[in-house]
Amino acid sequence: MSYDTIKVETRGRVGLVTFNRPKAMNALNQQMMREIVEALKAFQADAKIGAVVLTGSEKAFAAGADIKDMQSMDYPAALMVDLWGEWEDLGNFRKPTIAAVAGYALGGGCEVALMCDIVIAADNAKFGQPEITLGVIPGMGGTQRLARSIGKAKTMDLVLTGRLMDVQEAERCGLVARIVPATDLLEEALRTADKIAEFSLPAVMLAKEAVGRAFEVPLAEGLRFERRVFHSLFATEDQSEGMEAFVQKRSPQFKNR
Ligand code: CAA
Repeated sequence: MSYDTIKVETRGRVGLVTFNRPKAMNALNQQMMREIVEALKAFQADAKIGAVVLTGSEKAFAAGADIKDMQSMDYPAALMVDLWGEWEDLGNFRKPTIAAVAGYALGGGCEVALMCDIVIAADNAKFGQPEITLGVIPGMGGTQRLARSIGKAKTMDLVLTGRLMDVQEAERCGLVARIVPATDLLEEALRTADKIAEFSLPAVMLAKEAVGRAFEVPLAEGLRFERRVFHSLFATEDQSEGMEAFVQKRSPQFKNR
């Protein structure tokens, strides 16, 4: 499969998607969204892939949805194509995703990072939801996922003023998991993905799903879901192997990786 707007590689058990529209600061157009979704579907189907890293360039993870693409769109057109709805395929992707963010992650770029499970950011990263400056609002989850991620105060501040926040602020408020020097960003993200891909894939996928539930259902429901999933993992060979290896003081050899 060949792609025009992204580069797709595998590094061992890790899938790597690099956004590749350098002249447009990796602005996300509909072709790019479809290509990313296509690449993710292939990684989902590939049993050898245990985690995926999404990244951009040193200047821009992605400077938002492509404004030039949307400029001439009218309401019926946006409604009929359900503009940006297909990104939910990234939100619903079942293997772990890491956003390796350098430079600008604005609008849709920030929202794509929010759809990923872990955000690792370079020391030059900047986040924001500047849609209000364009006469619109975030349309890929910025009012919903951002509020769940960093709370109402910061979300209102960003969404209503359109201001950008630097990486230290983004880490303080919980959007970013780790800050690393820009030169180490990809290596750190790949190392983290590689670590995750060493574990039992069914356990990893269910861990991701269980944490995701915390943002969707009431606490009692989430706790019950977690316990049932926890119980179900006792039906896997990898649970026997993981616990036996601990007792025998050796490294586990997980079969379902
Ligand atoms: N869409 C289309 N093109 C974009 C773009 C975007 N979101 N962001 C940058 N570009 C283009 C610029 O138009 C420019 O192209 P030309 O050379 O052809 O003029 C090129 O990328 C380089 O950009 P700048 O010259 O502006 O670079 P800069 O370093 O001066 O500024 C920036 C960088 C601060 C990111 C600035 O480009 C900017 O503010 N971009 C727009 C950010 C934005 O508003 N994002 C939200 C988009 S709407 C959205 O995402 C909706 C949603 O929720 C789904």
